[in-house]
Amino acid sequence: MGLLATFLLPTVPAEASAPLRTHAASKGKFIGAALATSPLSNETAYRNIAATEFNQITAENAMKWDATEPNQNQFNFSGADAIVNFATQNNQQVHGHTLIWHQQTPGWVQGLGASAMRSAIQNHISQVVGRYADNPAVVSWDVVNEVFEENGSMRSSFWYNTLGQSYIADAFRAARAADPDARLCINDYNVEGINAKSTAMYNLVSSLRQQGVPVDCVGFQGHLAIQYGFPNDLQQNLERFAALGVQVRITELDIRMQMPRNSSKDATQATYYRNVINACLAVTACAGVTIWGFTDKYSWVPDTFGGEGAALIYDENYQQKASYTAVHDALAGGTGGNDTTPPTTPGTPTSSNVTSNSATLSWSASTDSGGSGLAGYNVYREQGATDTLLGQSTTASINLTGLTPDTQYQVYVRARDGAGNLSGNSPAVTFTTSEGPVGGGGCTATGTVQTQWQNGYVVQPVTVTNTGTSAVNGWTVTFTLPSGHTLAGSWNASLTVSGQTVTARNAGYNGNLAPNASTTFGFQVNRPNGNTQTPSGYTCA
Ligand code: XIL
Repeated sequence: MGLLATFLLPTVPAEASAPLRTHAASKGKFIGAALATSPLSNETAYRNIAATEFNQITAENAMKWDATEPNQNQFNFSGADAIVNFATQNNQQVHGHTLIWHQQTPGWVQGLGASAMRSAIQNHISQVVGRYADNPAVVSWDVVNEVFEENGSMRSSFWYNTLGQSYIADAFRAARAADPDARLCINDYNVEGINAKSTAMYNLVSSLRQQGVPVDCVGFQGHLAIQYGFPNDLQQNLERFAALGVQVRITELDIRMQMPRNSSKDATQATYYRNVINACLAVTACAGVTIWGFTDKYSWVPDTFGGEGAALIYDENYQQKASYTAVHDALAGGTGGNDTTPPTTPGTPTSSNVTSNSATLSWSASTDSGGSGLAGYNVYREQGATDTLLGQSTTASINLTGLTPDTQYQVYVRARDGAGNLSGNSPAVTFTTSEGPVGGGGCTATGTVQTQWQNGYVVQPVTVTNTGTSAVNGWTVTFTLPSGHTLAGSWNASLTVSGQTVTARNAGYNGNLAPNASTTFGFQVNRPNGNTQTPSGYTCA
């Protein structure tokens, strides 16, 4: 319901430190999160953040076909209703995701012949969309999801192979009939930049609209990764779709990295988040941005992309990350009216706890008098013409991680305000990281989940590689078990557990590694029923 609601949100000024949704609303945009039903009913911290920070939500799984119609004409709306009720209580809009997709659709649908499949689509859409047609919280739907191959041809899904391209227009018409006021979207991934796939999407949307098919909106999923670079033509791409007369939105934003996290990767990730928000803010037809989750505790990334993770804006302990600040500051940009006054310059940092790959810096805080308020600090390494951003912090100290052993760092700090003004450079502090592990080492470890079941999994192999230039005669790998998980066994290494931290030391026979040589070990874990997490991020020393 409420076709115009997202375009016509009133703009009201927001306090600099306000939650994300307050700033987004003041810009006439939504900021959303995909929510999972189990932590939503079980975890207060999850619920509180979801309610406080976001004015839009999407069901991560609860509205998909396998959840809503697992057997033909037997509908189950328990999860979907829980999401919609939460949104109603918290004055949030719901984006329905998703009606027609080639994944998470039950086998009974996939096996139907053409005319039975057409009827099943009509019935499914009329029941699911119809259920919420009069509910003011539910404002939009992903009618079709991921209909293209990477080269821009139609995906050869069971939908396409049974029905040809006609299923797309049919689905949109059925959704319009079921709720004439809902905004109807087509959604896909790898369409953020201008490329073969996004151009195919552009052509399809254009031709459907010419035929009078009710396509109101285009969703750009936004599953990005810092190691693949930022799609710098995102704004331009959104603009070309907007020129077709459709609304655009970022629907599933997450920005993953190869684990382990460090402050420099976090800073790059924060920049990517800021860029996405800024692109949406710059395009009038962009309704808002939905993040695919919000806490790294619940993210599809570690389960889907081996060795990658930490893609969201809160860590596993619900602490805000640099990426949160980036989203916040981008949404709050201009809050101080025309604040052009930078914060005061921070004091000289002092270094402490310097190890082979990390260091703590603290400095005396800055103040901001320009109106937008102090937002945080950027920490740079002095390196001649282009200094590297080592990390960002919202407080007057930072723990730098991922540093290179046995290396001198000259580091300075700049304060940042809510309008993006940067202070002068603080005086620099110089410190030198200690030598790495004996043996001139450096090693890496990556773990692969070999198999998993309801309440357990096996990680095999964990591959340990000597990345140094000389041989090592022992190695130590550490990793963190998700909460509630317990070690059940291990092989080819000796494992000790403290809290959730596991330390794996080489066995007698696999400690010696020549440069570039690898060895492996494995382990098995028990986890609570229904929990789908696995460890991510193995540190080797
Ligand atoms: C993912 C969910 O996050 C996972 O929990 C689930 O196991 C698989 O689907 N594109 C989409 C989303 O449109 O529905 C997908 O969500 C991620 C990719």
